[in-house]
Amino acid sequence: MPVDDSRLPGFHKLSVTERRRKVAEMALLGAADIATLENYGELDEEAANRMIENVIGTMSLPVGIATNFVIDGKPYVVPFVVEESSVVAAASNMAKRCLVKGGFRTNNDKPIMIGQLQVIGVEDHVAAEKIIFGAKEEIIAKCNSLPSTMIRLGGGCKDILTRSIQSMSGPMFVIHILVDCRDAMGANAVNTMTEMIAPDIESLIGGSVKLKILSNLASHRLARASATWTPEELSLDGSRESGESVILGIINAYHFADADPFRAATHNKGIMNAISSVAVACGQDWRAIEAGCHSWAAYNNGKYSSITHWEVNSDGDLHGSIECPMAVGIVGGASKVHPAAKANLNILGVESSQELAGVIAATGLSQNLAALFALSTAGIQAGHMKLHAKNMAVSAGAVGGEIEKIVEFVHNHDGPITQQSVVSALKKLRENTL
Ligand code: MEV
Repeated sequence: MPVDDSRLPGFHKLSVTERRRKVAEMALLGAADIATLENYGELDEEAANRMIENVIGTMSLPVGIATNFVIDGKPYVVPFVVEESSVVAAASNMAKRCLVKGGFRTNNDKPIMIGQLQVIGVEDHVAAEKIIFGAKEEIIAKCNSLPSTMIRLGGGCKDILTRSIQSMSGPMFVIHILVDCRDAMGANAVNTMTEMIAPDIESLIGGSVKLKILSNLASHRLARASATWTPEELSLDGSRESGESVILGIINAYHFADADPFRAATHNKGIMNAISSVAVACGQDWRAIEAGCHSWAAYNNGKYSSITHWEVNSDGDLHGSIECPMAVGIVGGASKVHPAAKANLNILGVESSQELAGVIAATGLSQNLAALFALSTAGIQAGHMKLHAKNMAVSAGAVGGEIEKIVEFVHNHDGPITQQSVVSALKKLRENTL
């Protein structure tokens, strides 16, 4: 159920139970969803054993709520599932700072997936293309003879393209079927369609159809999100001048990623911190999304680069945008099987796969800005280590009240913090010399 407001002041100061109660109230969660979220290890043995092979148990990760997201005028509280501290706080922080400019806007493609058929042994690709185009309606009809809800709801195969590529094994003729997957991610339907039409393709053009599988470079299923941040919102001391200088630093950091694949890999990893976290929370195939985003990052300009774009607009504000493939679904797959994924989708309150795609893209943009802001000002480690302090304290062996004392030590510490300094601090604490 959509929420009325995503600004949850003081949310981080509540206890876990209070936070869960608040989100449950806001998203009108049912008792089953609430019980799922409060039951650590929500996946019972039977459900886990159904999902994959050779199951020996389950492994939990925290579900955190990113606040302050307003996307296309609608407030969202966004569940993230991730092991890394500071990710949720960082995304929420930058989402808050674009609220004065109306939050995020999205523009998402229809949910069109590509299914590929690799045909080898075709001599004349031009002639083969002609034959495929001549038989297009027939091939599309065969694809859409698949008994499927997605097709009943207006989805299904909509078009066919052909490509001719050179490979180390020689020329290959490649057929793309374009399938509207509606609210499903669509992998199973697309893969089935490619297998269904393979014999027809061989009869039509000869040769031998080898691979029949979807492409994760879902270039017809792009999600786009953009937002604007004023210098005042990015200022370190409240002044416009400081904000303008922060913006220059951010642009400079973006240009670094744009120019250098070594930096772009880390820049995009930061974006995936949000994209994958929301994808996992919502039961999506996050590997497919990762593959799509990274291949898009390389496909667009012919070299691996940033999937976000940053510029200064005519008002001197920072304008950011993201564009990336986003193959997500809200029906089928784990989104309907995993109890926590269902609960998280209920918190998010999205009504279509396109809406989910836009929300995920917006979180990626916010996460990217948070990283560029931190990296181009104080550096990432100070904030990160403060939020990571509890984990470090526990890793060092702190128990009970020691944990808070070590966190306090980390917060008050000037200079770099390492696990070794935390271990030494714990030793001193126990010797009463801290
Ligand atoms: C760390 O998880 C993500 C960052 O490295 C992203 C970036 O460098 O842009 C901070």
